[in-house]
Amino acid sequence: MTAAAAVELHDVTLAYGSFVAVKNVALSIAKGEFVTLLGPSGCGKTTILRSIAGLVQPTGGEIVVAGRRIDNVPIHKRNIGLVFQNYALFPHKSVFDNIAFGLKYRSVEKSMIAKKVTRALEMVRLPGVEKKLPSEMSGGQQQRIALARAIVIEPDVLLLDEPLSALDANLREEMRTELKIIQREVGITTIFVTHDQEEALAMSDRIVVMNKGEIEQSGTPEDVYRRPESRFVASFLGQSNLLPGRIASVQGGKAAIRIDNGPELLALAPAAAREGARVTAVVRAQKVAVGSTGGSAGTMTGKIVSASYLGGTAAYFIDAGGVRLQAIATIEDRVWREGETVDIAINPTDCLLLDEGGKRMR
Ligand SMILES: Nc1ncnc2c1ncn2[C@@H]1O[C@H](COP(=O)(O)OP(=O)(O)O)[C@@H](O)[C@H]1O
Ligand SMILES: [Mg+2]
Repeated sequence: MTAAAAVELHDVTLAYGSFVAVKNVALSIAKGEFVTLLGPSGCGKTTILRSIAGLVQPTGGEIVVAGRRIDNVPIHKRNIGLVFQNYALFPHKSVFDNIAFGLKYRSVEKSMIAKKVTRALEMVRLPGVEKKLPSEMSGGQQQRIALARAIVIEPDVLLLDEPLSALDANLREEMRTELKIIQREVGITTIFVTHDQEEALAMSDRIVVMNKGEIEQSGTPEDVYRRPESRFVASFLGQSNLLPGRIASVQGGKAAIRIDNGPELLALAPAAAREGARVTAVVRAQKVAVGSTGGSAGTMTGKIVSASYLGGTAAYFIDAGGVRLQAIATIEDRVWREGETVDIAINPTDCLLLDEGGKRMR
């Protein structure tokens, strides 16, 4: 991307006492980009947002927003919009006063405040609710007010910390789409934090996968989902089979992997593949094809251990020559039943290899 970066983190480290919550995080976010920090609870996502907002001070590194180094700038002199899970509207103030708060604080002229509040409410598609109290509105509407309050100051960057997690499942999905549309329309640079992979995959231009305070991988949703760089990313995103084994042979661009106590699988051979090397084969559950036994080329047989009907798809656990495989398959004809013998096929292109250090083999 050639556009100037809106937010840059240069080797940001943050320790709480002797505990290092964020380690050498380097990240550059383009203007207008929607970037999601995704990772399990405790991996440092909130700490990164808090350090950009100025609520905590990094112990190392630099933060640059809109071309200005801000990690030494006091919180009220940073131009940043924040929305948290518990949106913390002032309960006894009207919607208008809630949204106007940041503008009054910035000494914006009165008639301008009214214009900006009206405009912000239009942007979040809640026009005309200025006089209401937060308690008169639904959870989803309150969340939109919190969003209006954050964007009304025209921040350099919008920070969203699990803003949808307090909403029930249906509303959460609706707000996901809505939030993304609003973000696009306003064109605001956004850092979104979630531990929910579906949310991240659905909303983001780019996903930054974090583990234990460090960035594991950064890429488009498709990149991180289809081309995980590490064991952590492969197991955190989606449902994958992680099968330890050894490279039995490399031939014609394919590597035959002898799974420990199990069958042999074919993978596209990375350049680094050497006969005898220990590897972990990674196969998405959706890429394990299950069919009736016909003995066609490239298949092995397995026995259905358990089957769950999921509507359009079914999830299976299958015993395949000594290993347990997880498969999620579209229901063509009928759901396979426990105890049935099936053919299993895995395309070599759908079998990634991790080296002994848990990194993807290249
Ligand atoms: N004020 C604090 N004092 C000490 N440890 C903290 C503090 N805030 C967060 N932590 C710890 O830092 C780590 C990262 O926390 P956080 O950034 O909140 O993670 P996430 O948002 O990814 O769940 C966690 O282990 C958490 O317990
Ligand atoms: Mg958090």
